[in-house]
Amino acid sequence: MSEHDSKRETDAHSGTETTGHEWDGIKELDTPLPRWWLYIFYGCIVWAVIYWVFMPAWPALPGLAGETDHTRGLRNHSERANVAAALDALDAERAGGFAALEGASIAEIENDPQLLGFVLAAGDAVFGDNCATCHGVGAQGFVGYPNLNDDVWLWGGSYEDIRTTLTVGIRSEHPDTRFSQMPAFGRDELLSRSQIGDVTDYVLSLSGTSADVGAIQRGEAIFEAQCASCHMADGRGDRLQGAPNLTDQDWLYGGTREQVMAIIHRGPYGVMPAWEDRLDEATIDALAAYVFLLGGGEDATARPTGR
Ligand code: HEC
Ligand code: HEC
Repeated sequence: MSEHDSKRETDAHSGTETTGHEWDGIKELDTPLPRWWLYIFYGCIVWAVIYWVFMPAWPALPGLAGETDHTRGLRNHSERANVAAALDALDAERAGGFAALEGASIAEIENDPQLLGFVLAAGDAVFGDNCATCHGVGAQGFVGYPNLNDDVWLWGGSYEDIRTTLTVGIRSEHPDTRFSQMPAFGRDELLSRSQIGDVTDYVLSLSGTSADVGAIQRGEAIFEAQCASCHMADGRGDRLQGAPNLTDQDWLYGGTREQVMAIIHRGPYGVMPAWEDRLDEATIDALAAYVFLLGGGEDATARPTGR
């Protein structure tokens, strides 16, 4: 018995024992912990022991607990495995949609509400993740990045054309990439500044936006010699070379005189990555159908080729 214990007494006012400590006549009560608190406390200890046994809880040296660095517990619980299982379930759910899509034409997709819904939902998600950075969230495009909602196509707007564009890319690193290169007429000194001015007026006259007769006449000769091999003699372009139609008022790089001159000076070189190695074929099908359905798709009875 310590000196303090000898001084323990029962406090008359509260009926509780004191600890025996006393400072200037103030005595410390030894109030027991409330029962409810104690039960929760013991309950927590019991819960922790059960948890250790059943759930992953302890760090373990590599090799001691299989592939993980912690004990797995009797339930062998793993969030990682749960996520993998959830993804598998999602894949299985989508596999049905992708399987139905295989070999279907756009006309068939449009006539099958379930398939159409699948294409729009899957396409929207994949487009947002992979394409919106360059083509815009609504696929409206930016200068140098084509609008995919309209019926103006550089390389073709059929289901197969779009699918091919996505698979191999444009001026991409893919061995079969769609490719062509307009010369940089000014930078590489193929045409003088005044010749570029003249041919610009000719190009603008094709869509009715220049009326400088002298320049247009001089420019026409230059166009025939330098530009018609790609943009065709009538200026309507060539999809095999991705050469745009210059007679409409739809401009990829802008339609002011300065913008057109600048493009002829430096030569455009639009790059679109290939998606073959990044998206599987079924996803490319869904995406191609989605882009087609955005508007402006051509020949809805065609089926995707390549698989
Ligand atoms: C890094 C930017 C970039 C990304 C990402 C990108 N594109 Fe493109 N895309 C371009 C450019 C630039 C062109 C135009 C190339 C040219 O001038 O010929 C283009 C052209 C296209 C064309 C051809 C249009 C036509 O008129 O023939 C289609 C279709 C297309 N993109 C769809 C997509 C889809 C679908 C995705 C997402 C999987 C995507 N693009 C992702 C830059 C991109
Ligand atoms: C070797 C083929 C080739 C030749 C030759 C060529 N072009 Fe092009 N031109 C293209 C291609 C391909 C594009 C689109 C490139 C891109 O998007 O990156 C283009 C784009 C353009 C554009 C931009 C159109 C837009 O919508 O913004 C203009 C303007 C143009 N060319 C004018 C000319 C003129 C003028 C000449 C002759 C002096 C010429 N091109 C010669 C292939 C050619």
